[in-house]
Amino acid sequence: MSIKASSTLFLASLLLLGTGLYFVTQLNGDQYDEEFAYKASGYAQASTCSLQNIQNWTCGTACQINPGVADIKAFYNSTHQIQGYTAYDQNENMIVAAFRPTVTNLNTLIDLDYFQIKYSACHGCEVHRGFLLAWKDLQNQVLTSISELVNNHPDAKVGVFGHSLGGALAVLASIDINNDVKHVDYLYTFGQPRVGNKKFAKYFNERIGNIYRLIHNRDLIPHVPLRAMGFQHEGTEVWYNEPNTSYQVCDFDKDNNKCSNKLHSFTMKDHCYYMGRDICEDC
Ligand SMILES: *[C@@H]1O[C@H](CO)[C@@H](O)[C@H](O)[C@H]1NC(C)=O
Ligand SMILES: *[C@@H]1O[C@H](CO)[C@@H](O)[C@H](O)[C@H]1NC(C)=O
Ligand SMILES: *[C@@H]1O[C@H](CO)[C@@H](O)[C@H](O)[C@H]1NC(C)=O
Repeated sequence: MSIKASSTLFLASLLLLGTGLYFVTQLNGDQYDEEFAYKASGYAQASTCSLQNIQNWTCGTACQINPGVADIKAFYNSTHQIQGYTAYDQNENMIVAAFRPTVTNLNTLIDLDYFQIKYSACHGCEVHRGFLLAWKDLQNQVLTSISELVNNHPDAKVGVFGHSLGGALAVLASIDINNDVKHVDYLYTFGQPRVGNKKFAKYFNERIGNIYRLIHNRDLIPHVPLRAMGFQHEGTEVWYNEPNTSYQVCDFDKDNNKCSNKLHSFTMKDHCYYMGRDICEDC
């Protein structure tokens, strides 16, 4: 897949730069749920399939993991080739939104000129320009669709999911869904890059429910853009070992050096393996 191919472009620029340390104190009472993470990997991967396969929920393992998915609407906007879907999982009583990674965003991530722009929802918040523009492409359709789903299933939970740059879109989608439509109960992402600055992370953590960012071993993408450039991850990192057999739940709201940040080298080799599967695999 394209993500694998673009990997080497990152390495040179990334490893030259240092890191910064931030401390924000906040408590997160929620628990990491590995079974839920497995389901989340299915929701996330399904977003990479063809619109027709998403619509019919016929996308192999990714779809079979969550057999209760219904009321599906898949969206694509050609401006930045952004794709995602919304649905209702009747087995979980959960409204779902998920987003796929794209090559275009990967390029934007490398483009140092466009790093941060003001994020109007909160004072002093800034986010990655490319991600925000990409989210804007689907914003209206996704928010409209989620509103309809909430009308039809008023007591359902809301979960938002994504892998890689789809994870970044999931972050921006979550805050809008949360502020404009309904409280977001779960945000689980896989190999997600950083999205905004420290103030954005704080704003986010105060609003969204269970925020877990899975990182497999030396996956490179969660380490860009750099903390030294003013970016900070939201939520709680869950750091998996190389054979994907055990994990460490890290500090909430810190993005500190206790987990994967303490590494000095990263690789795209680990970027596709989550929950014991290759979630970049085409469906
Ligand atoms: C999706 O379902 C429709 C209607 O049942 C069918 O005509 C179409 O061939 C299906 N497409 C795929 C890709 O499964
Ligand atoms: C696609 O994205 C562009 C640019 O963000 C936006 O102007 C347009 O309304 C989007 N299309 C749809 C159908 O939402
Ligand atoms: C774990 O991840 C590695 C890539 O980092 C992959 O080669 C291996 O197949 C994965 N193992 C399992 C059991 O998923």
